[in-house]
Amino acid sequence: MANMDRRKFLILSGLSGAALALKGQPAALAEKLTKEEKKMAYTAKDYAKLIGMKGFSEALLKNHFTLYQGYVTNSNKVLDIIDQMVKDGKTATPEFAELKRRLGWEFNGMRLHEYYFENLGGKAELKKDGKLGKKLAESFGSVENWEKDFRGTGASWIALYQDLTNGRLINFWINEHDVGHPAGCNLVLVMDVFEHAFMLDYGLKRADYIESFFKNIDWAAAEARLK
Ligand SMILES: [Fe+2]
Repeated sequence: MANMDRRKFLILSGLSGAALALKGQPAALAEKLTKEEKKMAYTAKDYAKLIGMKGFSEALLKNHFTLYQGYVTNSNKVLDIIDQMVKDGKTATPEFAELKRRLGWEFNGMRLHEYYFENLGGKAELKKDGKLGKKLAESFGSVENWEKDFRGTGASWIALYQDLTNGRLINFWINEHDVGHPAGCNLVLVMDVFEHAFMLDYGLKRADYIESFFKNIDWAAAEARLK
């Protein structure tokens, strides 16, 4: 199954595999959750202000928001079921192990989309003499080199990270979004390059989508993430 189809399937079907074996439990679990646990549940953020952004149709963005909301729902669901399984002494089970694996998938699906939507909607160009512009030039030789490297990086998610040990900026290819993130690094700019992020508007013209992404980067938001 292609990446997009598999993800759509997983989202539309709710939790698969081990979690499906626990179907029916989440509602009952909600009753058992303490007030503190309920308070810590994740809420999907509203990115409707991005609608109207040049190069992104309303239909594409709305589909993408729905996909993101699915990750938020499932992150909460997986965390709730895990909590309950710990309380019930069921940690030495394949279902528990599968849910722990699944948590990274759902959580990063939620968080990466938040970074992505939040580094979009910008109108101004990158200031080459600003903090981020200078750091990019320092790390890659020039902003142009960084851009070539970024555009050429991988196929699913492209993530500009700052290594906190020396401040260096590095573009990482994130193939499956729960793996491949560099330890001890800070996410600065992320681009979703999964098919669902562009196919509705661009078909197979991935490079044209990347062009539109670049025109809409919120550089100030990315710069604010630098440590
Ligand atoms: Fe996405």
